[in-house]
Amino acid sequence: MSVAFRVPLYCLILVLSALKGESRYLQENEVTAEGLFSLLNSEVKRELSKDFIYRRPLRCLDMLTMEGQFTFTAERPQLNCAAYFIGEPNEVISIEYSAVDIDCRRGDFVKVFDGWFLKGEKFPSNQDHPLPLSERYVDYCDTHDLKRVARSSQNVAMIFFRVHSPGSSFTVTVKKLINPFPCNIISQTREGSFTMVIPHQHTNCSFSIIYPVEIEIEELSLGRLDSNDAPLKRSIPSCGGAGDFVELLGGNGVDTSKMFPVADLCFSLNGPAQMKVGCDNTVMRMVSSGKFINRVTFQYRPLDRRELQKIKGNNVEEFCFIE
Ligand SMILES: *[C@@H]1O[C@H](CO)[C@@H](O)[C@H](O)[C@H]1NC(C)=O
Repeated sequence: MSVAFRVPLYCLILVLSALKGESRYLQENEVTAEGLFSLLNSEVKRELSKDFIYRRPLRCLDMLTMEGQFTFTAERPQLNCAAYFIGEPNEVISIEYSAVDIDCRRGDFVKVFDGWFLKGEKFPSNQDHPLPLSERYVDYCDTHDLKRVARSSQNVAMIFFRVHSPGSSFTVTVKKLINPFPCNIISQTREGSFTMVIPHQHTNCSFSIIYPVEIEIEELSLGRLDSNDAPLKRSIPSCGGAGDFVELLGGNGVDTSKMFPVADLCFSLNGPAQMKVGCDNTVMRMVSSGKFINRVTFQYRPLDRRELQKIKGNNVEEFCFIE
């Protein structure tokens, strides 16, 4: 198991123990870091036929990339559980509750969250998410049968749950739907490429890679009018936080508003530009005024141990390591 695989899981464990108290239940949990990720990896590889519904038990700490039906059954009080769902960049996740047998009056709950909560931070951040925070939760105990399906705004979602009585159970059915304009994304892989397009929308989008990576920008087109021949209009010579630009952020949490700018790019770019970012999380974020069609294409690959050591050696004082 590579070092890079440990990073997000380390986050998972921290967030779970940070969820108010009761972390001893987590320690008793048999799910190990390696177990969770080997499970995730074998699931990613498995190809399933269309009409087969994948079913398996849901664990108190779980990570799922597959569509299917997942049933949690408590064997003992489990007060501090979370399951993380992730899809491809161009997918959103729908989660439907069924056969819910929990005791809301006793403090049991099952809540869907539109995004991920890691180490006490949210992705997408409050600033970047289209909905106010209170509307990002669907709480089974508040809504009962009124709203049984929750749909995420991006490729990640999660559920928090707590049950006191052994034998309590619920099922969630997870489906993935195509999102024609993906905006906020967490990469499912450590390696890949992506083109982010914001067509005439006053919005900000980020692509987050939760591994130390080298990122290479292939093409960046900013502030261009629809026609290819239109001259570039730039009133501000440096980004200065204004206008349309792309920023590369680095940090050790998932909230983009708490991350540090590694580089700002506010000019269109044709050739490749690379950077190595030795942070737990690297984010490509595009800020868009809505006046233009903005587009950035980039690829990324994980840094190996030797590269990480090397950048670390060069920047002892840095918050995380950049070359
Ligand atoms: C996008 O981000 C910029 C700078 O970070 C901010 O000033 C602006 O208000 C944001 N726009 C939206 C629609 O959130």
